[in-house]
Amino acid sequence: MKNHASSLSNKNKFLILGCGFSGSFFAKKIRELGCTVLTSSRSEKKDPDSFVFNSESDMVPNKKIFDGVTHVLSCIPPDKNGNDPVLKRLKNQLKSLPLEWAGYLSTTGVYGDTEGDWVSEIDKPNPIQKRSHTRLNCEKEWIESGLPAQIFRLPGIYGPGRSSFDAIKNKKIRVISKKDQVFSRIHVSDITNAIIYLLQNKNSLKFCQIINIADDEPCSQIEVIQYCYDLLDLPMPKPILFEDAKKELSPIAQSFWIENRRVSNKLLCETLGYKLIYKNYKLGLKNCYLNS
Ligand SMILES: NC(=O)c1ccc[n+]([C@@H]2O[C@H](COP(=O)([O-])OP(=O)(O)OC[C@H]3O[C@@H](n4cnc5c(N)ncnc54)[C@H](OP(=O)(O)O)[C@@H]3O)[C@@H](O)[C@H]2O)c1
Repeated sequence: MKNHASSLSNKNKFLILGCGFSGSFFAKKIRELGCTVLTSSRSEKKDPDSFVFNSESDMVPNKKIFDGVTHVLSCIPPDKNGNDPVLKRLKNQLKSLPLEWAGYLSTTGVYGDTEGDWVSEIDKPNPIQKRSHTRLNCEKEWIESGLPAQIFRLPGIYGPGRSSFDAIKNKKIRVISKKDQVFSRIHVSDITNAIIYLLQNKNSLKFCQIINIADDEPCSQIEVIQYCYDLLDLPMPKPILFEDAKKELSPIAQSFWIENRRVSNKLLCETLGYKLIYKNYKLGLKNCYLNS
């Protein structure tokens, strides 16, 4: 990744709030660029750069943690009451900082069902699930917070350690077929790299407050699973029709099959010029295969 025109340097200090799957990929990469990075989790970690933040407890992070912070990335989903954990507990603290940027990882669930049509940032969100209404409210709260917020809408996230390979290995794979159903997805490295690309070129690119980060090729779940079995040189189990599989799926698993949409990345990849590392599931899964 080019660094010479970067607006990021060792003068920058990042707080990654919620350092789970996406957060830890981002933290690793941004450290490689020389930035200081502190990360949060809900339980104590041995890592000296990690601190405890749990919006459900009364304990708030020590003030020293916020000293010199220039950038914040929240990777924390809404809490069980629908509140944004970061804004609920830390909004005033964050607003007292001279922040340059506050990123928020959201979901493309806010678009609802488009019956397989493409959907982009200019389309009005039309959430159907309760959790997606909640998410849209959290986005709104970030936008209205007075912080320099930028929202990233993400489809299904996968990467090494979280892909269909892991589901196959853990015998948790279900091969379900539903006519015309597609899913969009994104490799975790592209979330990190796209955000870093936008930050590094912040001074020359138009600032967009809401951006989808998705790959080029939404497709059926069967295609993805079949490709994994092909790489493993194993036969794929016979697909089960969604109507038959439905009764055995948890309500949350069922809810993912109710929505059918193709998420457009034109704003990110055409208007803003980001080049995906993994344009499609085949390239992304090869990376997972080689790193599993
Ligand atoms: N997974 C997907 O396919 C997907 C798709 C679209 C959007 N998203 C959204 O994108 C964001 C990042 O996803 P991810 O899969 O990388 O997340 P993840 O691995 O599940 O990590 C979530 C992080 O949030 C922390 N957290 C959760 N509740 C918290 C609370 N009440 N107070 C403080 N910290 C809390 C967790 O702490 P611990 O480390 O202590 O567990 C964890 O570090 C999330 O908002 C997610 O909903 C995910």
